[in-house]
Amino acid sequence: MACFPLLLRVLRWFNFPWLDLILLFWRGFFPCRTGFPMLNIALFQPEIPPNTGNIARQCVGMQARLHLIGPLGFGISDKAVKRAGLDYWPHLQLVQHPNPPAFLDWLGPRPPWLITKHGATRYDRAAWRDEDVLLFGSETRGLPPEWRQRWADHCLYIPMPGPVRSYNLSNAVALVLAQASLAAGLFP
Ligand SMILES: C[S@@+](CC[C@H](N)C(=O)[O-])C[C@H]1O[C@@H](n2cnc3c(N)ncnc32)[C@H](O)[C@@H]1O
Repeated sequence: MACFPLLLRVLRWFNFPWLDLILLFWRGFFPCRTGFPMLNIALFQPEIPPNTGNIARQCVGMQARLHLIGPLGFGISDKAVKRAGLDYWPHLQLVQHPNPPAFLDWLGPRPPWLITKHGATRYDRAAWRDEDVLLFGSETRGLPPEWRQRWADHCLYIPMPGPVRSYNLSNAVALVLAQASLAAGLFP
């Protein structure tokens, strides 16, 4: 079992044609364990389907796991979600948490990184590590204030020197996931 991730890497190296099938099989049994180093993107009650679709597509491309914290205002089979990345959807590692307490149960004692304009640390100064959880707020409400207080030393901001109130959610994910993946050494 322990050598399975290594085997996958070797097969990927040779562009082994059955790799996708093997991955689908593996994920069917171990949806939270791919064997590959990974970051977790968690969206707190996202409201705009195309944002979630774009983020899903980026997660597939950058091999991150996507967590959706409900309740959601739309269904994930919504056309607008899938349109952004229909071909890629089967490759997405998606974990759905029906509500915030379910997400907190899954999280356990480890602190997530909260990506919020109220953060005190610039996002590129965090010490990113494999399996870190990057938590983003909803489009209109952001993150719950009590979560920001609970993990105050894990709140990261993206600089906004120009006159905007905040960035679009999927743009914020794009910036932070790329930076975190590079810093954690997750890109080949
Ligand atoms: C459209 S913003 C939410 C704006 C919301 N009114 C607020 O006050 O947080 C959606 C999400 O993108 C992320 N975001 C946007 N701009 C950001 C920034 N400058 N720094 C850190 N995160 C940001 C945050 O996770 C935020 O919750």
